[in-house]
Amino acid sequence: MPSAESDVRKRIWIFDTTLRDGEQSPGATMTVEEKLEMSDALVDLGVDIIEAGFPAASPGDFEAVQLIAERVKGATVAGLARANRNDIERAAKAIEGAESARIHTFIATSDIHMEHKLKMSREELIARVSDMVTLAKSFTSDVEFSAEDATRSDWDFLVQVFDTAIKAGATTLNVPDTVGYTTPAEYANLMAHLQEHVPGIDDVIISVHCHNDLGMGTANTLAAIAAGARQAEVTINGIGERAGNTALEEVVMALATRGEQFGRAYTNIRTDRIVPISRRLSGITGLEVQVNKAIVGDNAFAHEAGIHQDGMLKNRTTYEIMNPEDVGWEGTRLVLGKHSGRAGFRSGLADLGIKLDDEEMQAAYEQFLQLADKKKRVTAADLVALVQNQQETKDDVYTLRQWKVDIASGEPTAVSIVLGHRDETLVGNAEGNGPVDALFMAIGAAAGIEPSLEYYHVEAVTPGYDAQGQVHVRIKYQDAIYTGHGLATDIVEASARAYLDAMSKIETGDSSTVLAATTSVSRWS
Ligand code: KIV
Ligand code: ZN
Repeated sequence: MPSAESDVRKRIWIFDTTLRDGEQSPGATMTVEEKLEMSDALVDLGVDIIEAGFPAASPGDFEAVQLIAERVKGATVAGLARANRNDIERAAKAIEGAESARIHTFIATSDIHMEHKLKMSREELIARVSDMVTLAKSFTSDVEFSAEDATRSDWDFLVQVFDTAIKAGATTLNVPDTVGYTTPAEYANLMAHLQEHVPGIDDVIISVHCHNDLGMGTANTLAAIAAGARQAEVTINGIGERAGNTALEEVVMALATRGEQFGRAYTNIRTDRIVPISRRLSGITGLEVQVNKAIVGDNAFAHEAGIHQDGMLKNRTTYEIMNPEDVGWEGTRLVLGKHSGRAGFRSGLADLGIKLDDEEMQAAYEQFLQLADKKKRVTAADLVALVQNQQETKDDVYTLRQWKVDIASGEPTAVSIVLGHRDETLVGNAEGNGPVDALFMAIGAAAGIEPSLEYYHVEAVTPGYDAQGQVHVRIKYQDAIYTGHGLATDIVEASARAYLDAMSKIETGDSSTVLAATTSVSRWS
């Protein structure tokens, strides 16, 4: 029985689509292992629904959704499906092991999409919605229906579509702003129109899903919440198609800070997990968070101007509307050294929301000690990178044994490399245009394959001369893309490790994208 307090306050369901809409964006593709790691972190964060992927898109997507569905406890797992029989059956199969399973089916309702993409009449579309929501409902009681491009659809037609979806059994109706076109006032009016005209809408959840093409994703989502929407579809760091989706951290903290402006709306998110999960996602994808990004950017709580610093010293509330500790910045200030000991290391990881089993903890601790020998101050960012790197590379079949680089101005760079590969030792030599080029060619020569390099990114995990370099690579081999991560205090070594991680995935078949299989379905948002 809800208390009087919760009757008055308005619970907003957080539907996280980092692993589906977010993962769909360029550069954000994740392997199955990485998706599992993220789904654990999302459960820890307290999201209500995890959209785990689009099972019909590829066997890899299907497998990831299936594994997430079997693993997640305490949150609903949703699988996305276009409104067709094959997609819905694939989604149903993928989520069948979930403690709480949702099928999320969608079809576009705007004239632009119906005429140019679907080539369907309104009557045909209504019949399709009825049939496909009914089909989805035969697999699970929890069915979400989305009217893709709702904000550019005819409002009265939208009423008919949603009426049909409710009659066929949909329990959540999503009103996506697929192309980031709407404005806060217009979106709020659309919410009011739907609530006034769709029969039975008060018995289902209205959901909002906004893209950020005009930078209004968060404003639109909040306007819709104030106007009666009860579910917000969001991603960590706002990743997603084109300019991205609405950022989870922005909506959650706007409601936590100014909930009274939105009908006393609140979420069940553990806000102190926000910064750690943001860092984890950018570590996995290599997509950096912009420094001035609200809540999670490095400068979000930095005060530079003298007048601001003066005010802050007198009283924090002069210039701070949120407490940085409440969103998890405290853990990020942690500093350890080699004398911190195992207990300090373990509690540092716990503060960052990182859980490891005994074997992983031991391996991470040994790597921490090695790092603490090279670097006096091991920070939270170092720890996150270290653990992530350990998780990423633990199954690598290629290992780095030795490397040598000869470099001088005006001459080609020469690299010699010695690798371990299962029980063999492989040796490669190459000359190239700089150390990274020569290094990757030498590795290719040792392994006897020549993938092409699609993306290379190096960043320092922390400031300072002794910083660890973190390298992300994407390589292409036989129409599939493989990602690799490498970490070391030397960037040549970090580059070699990243390349070997990606090469290992070629051998184990752990691609993040199979190009031929996904291009036909991945370009809508
Ligand atoms: O942006 C969109 O319309 C979507 C739907 C599939 C919900 O992502
Ligand atoms: Zn979308």
